[in-house]
Parts: sequence; structure tokens; C-alpha cells
Amino acid sequence: MKISKRIEKMNFSSIRKLTPLADEARRKGIKIYPLNIGQPDIVTPDTFFQGVNNYKEKIVKYSNSEGITELRETFSKNFRKWNMDILPDEILITAGGSEAVIFTILSICDPGDEVIVPEPYYSNYDSFVKMADSSIVPVHTSIEDGFHLPSKEEIVSKITSKTKAILFSNPSNPTGTVYTEAEIKMLGEIAEEYDLYIISDEVYREFTFENTSFISPIKFENLRKRTIIIDSISKHYSACGARIGLVATKNEDLKMQMLKLCQARLCASTIEQYAASNLINTLESYIEKVKAIYKSRRDVMYEGLCNIEGVTCFKPEGSFYIFVKLPIDDGEKFSRWLLTDFNHDGETVMVAPGKGFYQSEGRGINEIRLSYCIDEKEIKRAIEILNIAIKEYNKLNVKY
Ligand SMILES: Cc1ncc(COP(=O)(O)O)c(C=O)c1O
Repeated sequence: MKISKRIEKMNFSSIRKLTPLADEARRKGIKIYPLNIGQPDIVTPDTFFQGVNNYKEKIVKYSNSEGITELRETFSKNFRKWNMDILPDEILITAGGSEAVIFTILSICDPGDEVIVPEPYYSNYDSFVKMADSSIVPVHTSIEDGFHLPSKEEIVSKITSKTKAILFSNPSNPTGTVYTEAEIKMLGEIAEEYDLYIISDEVYREFTFENTSFISPIKFENLRKRTIIIDSISKHYSACGARIGLVATKNEDLKMQMLKLCQARLCASTIEQYAASNLINTLESYIEKVKAIYKSRRDVMYEGLCNIEGVTCFKPEGSFYIFVKLPIDDGEKFSRWLLTDFNHDGETVMVAPGKGFYQSEGRGINEIRLSYCIDEKEIKRAIEILNIAIKEYNKLNVKY
């Protein structure tokens, strides 16, 4: 029996593929500090659980395919906080931001088409784009420039007759970069000149630190029709398992075409939609508190990493990730070794190898991504262990 070429071309998640090794290490009694995955450890607001009770039916029914009105109104109101004028009718509810990206790509790309993405990027984008038999064309960014965008000329040089969109996550997973207004405007100019969509993945919108502020391309009058917003409650409200996200677009034709996909998969989870509708009643202080927690953790992690000899990192401006260059030969080999052959007093760390966030051959080899979804005390300890591990790894000259 044959397997499709499409699925064969896809990769296993570079973040999740080390899980069996971690399970084995845990079975041996080793404590693992999980710095590999973006699963918030912060308690989901009560409003979400209270909202479950707003579902009064005795049968767990399908909802309508575009999402329940209450939820689309909630999101529309929430966008106003960001001066983003998006009507409930311009929103389609999806199973998380993931389905929102999949539906977007399937709606705008034909086989052979290309999507420009700043690299390193959220690695699942690669699978989402491959689902449409299309490919990512990476635009390189570097740790030395804080992963900010290269010149307009460099980005334009990647455009071909097959290019359909520019896709980016802002604030960025995996780098923590927050694009400036000038960068968003530059992407907008390129999109206008070459008639491209801008897919703005804003699932970390709430988390920007210090002087950086979040800018959505939909705020610019000239970009409104070509911007597609991806959003989700997963990170903003620590509700990853709810699987509630959205696509927002002011392009009515695109929205109507995308509705076909929504109808084909019938609906997003009904009860979770009711629960998420009540998130509008979450106090602003919840988000402020969460943001302060991430900022403080970011500081602890960044300082700890700066004290490790040979480490290069850039202070993240947002989200809850940091992308780091280590004084090692191979991040993938190192990440495995941490789980299979290393522990310090019965403890180790789990990290995400950098290579999986790149498409370009040879990039990201000695880089890793860390998340700060554990508390500060644990972060301090995890970074101490990482420091010890790097030294031991290099001393042993580990080979596989
Ligand atoms: C940049 C980015 N976009 C989208 C997603 C998808 O999130 P979800 O499907 O849980 O909304 C993630 C999850 O980590 C992400 O980091």
C-alpha cells in the first residue's frame, strides 16, 4: 500500500520528537526541566470554566460552521482593545491557530505555490504549507540582528510568479522578536507592490515587553483587504487544550471561500466555544499579571544564559521563547544526549533543537530554542544544569 508523496515530504515535529526519550529518562527517575515546549504553566482564568455553564443543551450538538455568534462578538470586542476594527462577521472560528493557518494556506495556495516566511520560523508552518503542496521560501534573519527583518531588496529577491503570501508570527515563536512599525510597513509595501497576502500570526500578541509594542498590519488602511489575522486563546489565556482559534479577514470573497473548509469539518468544539465566549469577562489584571510573569522569567533566563561562556543570545522582546547559539557542534545531538546520557544529580533539561526551525541547509545547527513556561526558581536551576551539561558534553566529545 502506498503512502502519499505529500505526507512523506512532511517532517515530524522537531519539538515533539524527543518526547519518547524524555519519557524513558523519567522512567529512570530523572527529573526533566521542560524548556522545549510552549505549554503555558499559568492557570487558565476562571471565566473560561464558568463559561462552560453557558451551554444549556442536553445534547452536545454541532455548532454553526463559522463559530457561535457570542464568541465572534467576544473576539471582535477584544480586537478593539488593540484598535483593530474587526467585525464578528469577519471572523471564522477554528480549532486553534493551527487550523486557522491550515485553512488560510489551503484557501490561497495552489500546488507549487510559495509562501515567504522569515527564518527561523514556527516549525509547524512547514507542514501546514506542505498540506497545500506548496513550499516555504525562507528569508534569513540572524541572532546578531535580534532576528529582525533584512532589507526590502533581500525580501523582494525571494519573490517569484508563484509567491502568494508573506507569513510571520509576531511576536515571534521561536525568537521572541517583535517587529517594528517600520518592518510591518515594509512588508505591507512589498505585499502591495507584488499583490501578496500578509498572514499575521498574532497568537502571542499580548506578550510584548519594555519599549516594544505590537503592530498588526490590519491597522493600515491600504493593507486591510490583504491581511489575514491568525489568533487563538491557547497562549493569551493559557488554554491550549481548548483548541479555539480564529481567522479574521476583511476580504469577503476569501472569507466565503474559506467557509467551505469550515463547513467541511462541520464546526469547532461547541462547549469550548461557549467557554471561550466568557473570556471577555476576564479582568485585564489577569493578562497584566501573566505578562509580568513572563517578563520576569525572560530576565532570569536571559541573564543566566549570558553568564554561560560561549553562548550568544538576543534579549527577547515578546512571546515566551528565546533562541540561543551554544558553544557545541550540533544542537540535535546535544538535545538527545541531554535525555539519554546526561544528568546532574538526577536532573536534566529538555530543549528544542534549532535546526527544525529552519529550512535552509546548514542553518541552526548549533542553536536551540528555549521556552520559559516554568517558574523562576526552576528556570535558574535549569540554566545551571544546561551550563554544566555544555561543559560535560564538550569534554566528552560526544559522538553518535
Ligand atoms: C506561532 C504559533 N502559531 C500558531 C500556533 C498554534 O497554536 P494553537 O493551535 O494552539 O492555537 C502556535 C503554537 O505554539 C504558535 O507558536
